[in-house]
Amino acid sequence: MTLFRGTVLDTPEDPFAGGALRAEEDAGLVERDGTIVARGPYERVRTAYPDDDVVDLRGGLVLPGLVDTHVHFPQVRVIGALGMPLLEWLESCALPEEARLADVAYARAVARDLVRGLVRAGTTTALVFGSHFAGAVDALFAEADRVGLRVTSGLVVSDRGLREDLHTTPERAHEEGLALAGRWHGVRRNRYAVTPRFSLSCTDELLASCAALKQEVPETWFTSHLNENVVEIDTVRTLFDDAEHYLHTYAQHGLVGRRSVLAHNVHATHDELVELAAAGASVAHCPTSNSALGSGLFPLRQHLEHGVRVALGSDVGAGTGFSLLKEGLQAYFMQQLLGERGEPLAAPHLLHLTTTAGAHALGLGDTVGQLSVGHELDLVWLRPEPGSTLDVVLTHATSAEDALGRAFALGTSSDVAGTWVAGRRVVPSAL
Ligand code: GUN
Ligand code: ZN
Repeated sequence: MTLFRGTVLDTPEDPFAGGALRAEEDAGLVERDGTIVARGPYERVRTAYPDDDVVDLRGGLVLPGLVDTHVHFPQVRVIGALGMPLLEWLESCALPEEARLADVAYARAVARDLVRGLVRAGTTTALVFGSHFAGAVDALFAEADRVGLRVTSGLVVSDRGLREDLHTTPERAHEEGLALAGRWHGVRRNRYAVTPRFSLSCTDELLASCAALKQEVPETWFTSHLNENVVEIDTVRTLFDDAEHYLHTYAQHGLVGRRSVLAHNVHATHDELVELAAAGASVAHCPTSNSALGSGLFPLRQHLEHGVRVALGSDVGAGTGFSLLKEGLQAYFMQQLLGERGEPLAAPHLLHLTTTAGAHALGLGDTVGQLSVGHELDLVWLRPEPGSTLDVVLTHATSAEDALGRAFALGTSSDVAGTWVAGRRVVPSAL
């Protein structure tokens, strides 16, 4: 058993529903076999558990492990290309790199880059958009498993509209997906997600094969893209002339439900929001990506008003890095820029969106996303270098909420002093 000591912040009560930030200045968290079995003021917990080893995380902030609900495995090495809208960026930047993952040795190296990037950013759980190549997806699961990260991922499939070497067939997609799910779904912390790239690059036959696979393998997830860019949306409309709207291209195959996460939804329609809410599906809001590609300003308030679940995604590599602190800050900026149509966000909202909301979106709300008794101990320790601006600012913060807001404003992966999954430190040297 281990006793973790530090300033612990989390959001078990949803701030969007009036819940307050839970902040404990000097908290003790007792961990046994990866699970939190006791929590309270440090001195009290120490008295009850006098023999435990203490992990002293004082100085800085302890947050639940961050949850990234949309990040692309094969795009790590092309982060940061600027100045292009979605379809041009895909063609000239993302897809040429994605084609390189046909080489499994290359894919293994990229999988290491991805997992290292996530851990260094304090992300402990991720819904990872996989690769078009089965060998590469296998390499990703193997690397996540080796390190112990919680990863949900799958084979990305497309059968039109991209480069030929990224196309598959409905039969092959089904066969390869089944084999990968058989190998990894439910194995330790890995889970499988059926992943058509987006309707623009999928025929109805391919989407039907995705739906069949999802039916055949219990408890698998579905993830894809939705309503990101106006040219994309117009193209999807011409490709699926009998669909009522973009969401319908997936929903008509039975792909939209509680275990579905759709990225972006920047240009959502009323009917789609109603259907997403009724289905219990989640939207991964990816603010740095939306800004970098000029996709648009995310209508968070409309999502909340319709009761659609929203969490955050980095959308690496259109997104500008792995840090969910930056995504939180950019989400805040975006709502500010929407003026009266924006949803005002404060630090507790940002923490909720990057932890608890992500855990709920991925069906892991009872397991991670908060540091409560009964949850697994996934945490990130933010401890800026002494003398750094974040250090100075945290030292002068007037409250826990104040400190948290400053951590979102100034924090980067360099401020992540350690990441723990199920009570075990993910050691950077082993990455
Ligand atoms: N839509 C289809 N593929 C992609 C992708 O790789 N990134 C983003 N942002 N949108 C997409
Ligand atoms: Zn994406």
